[in-house]
Amino acid sequence: MQKKKFDVLVAGELNIDLILDKLDQFPVIGKEIMAAEMIYTLGSSSAIFASNLSTLGASVNYCGCIGNDSFGDKIINDLAAKNVTTSNIIRSKTSGTGITVAFNFNQDRAMVTYPGAMNELKQNDITDDMLKQAQHLHVSSVFLQPALKPGLIDLFKRAKQFGLTTSLDPQWDPAEKWDCDWKNLLLFVDVFLPNIEELKNITQKTNLPGAVDAIKDFANLIVAKNSTEGAIAFYKNEVVEQPAFINHDFADAIGAGDSFNAGFIRQFIRDKSLKQCAELGAVCGAINTTQKGGTAAFKDFETVKKIAKEKFNYTLQ
Ligand SMILES: Nc1ncnc2c1ncn2[C@@H]1O[C@H](COP(=O)(O)OP(=O)(O)O)[C@@H](O)[C@H]1O
Ligand SMILES: [Mg+2]
Repeated sequence: MQKKKFDVLVAGELNIDLILDKLDQFPVIGKEIMAAEMIYTLGSSSAIFASNLSTLGASVNYCGCIGNDSFGDKIINDLAAKNVTTSNIIRSKTSGTGITVAFNFNQDRAMVTYPGAMNELKQNDITDDMLKQAQHLHVSSVFLQPALKPGLIDLFKRAKQFGLTTSLDPQWDPAEKWDCDWKNLLLFVDVFLPNIEELKNITQKTNLPGAVDAIKDFANLIVAKNSTEGAIAFYKNEVVEQPAFINHDFADAIGAGDSFNAGFIRQFIRDKSLKQCAELGAVCGAINTTQKGGTAAFKDFETVKKIAKEKFNYTLQ
């Protein structure tokens, strides 16, 4: 097969994360309080996936929607710094760039999100030309993208018509309705990457075997992520149980699922076995948790290779 311009096209949400850490008390109406630390960083599941997949050596093109503002500039700069192609990112004329502000106090956290331009990406923005230039399509965060959601089946159908392989991470539904035509969507999704709670909610089952049973007739490869328990992959009659790698330097788990996806898809597009896909997924999930946020541990390929070997005894090739 002729090599495509990009290994992976990511179509998805983009936002800034502003994390206010070490508050002197939890926010109170009518009062001003102080935060001892502040982190201003690239957020969003799709962007963490794209950024870390690019660091792992895949060529990645991104289609998403941001505002015409300095937050949008930061997103473009951060993705470009990781070699993600940003020329198909759309600047909205009406909305600002999406942002999540998180307030951390001890073990508790409150978050406020302004979705802004994330509300605007629609399936027609992802053109046939973009699809034709890629070997694989990845979409994440079904419920954070109200304009994209109604066209998801058509988008995945088009991708399959052009010969791409595809993957989808549904992520959490903040409305907890889980409303989507899964039956018709998953037919066109080669790799479905929910976490176990998302999978149980989507199928309205209380346990994993029941959940897998409920979708296996129309889903293809199902990968259920389960935090420190690792992940289980189901494909036809094959089941791969992948334990998590034990991390003695835990910082936080923000983005672990997205980094797992990046490791998994990096191997998947190289035609590796299910075990090899799941294993690099778990290694990348664990690497992600060694530093705060979703991309800090994925500085460059050599750094990732070093962490993989030294901390998890895994040889990244
Ligand atoms: N604390 C941790 N230590 C080691 N690996 C982890 C840890 N947390 C997550 N992982 C790895 O990352 C993967 C994805 O994390 P998970 O929390 O299940 O995803 P999501 O963020 O989508 O809920 C897990 O399957 C596991 O392999
Ligand atoms: Mg997730």
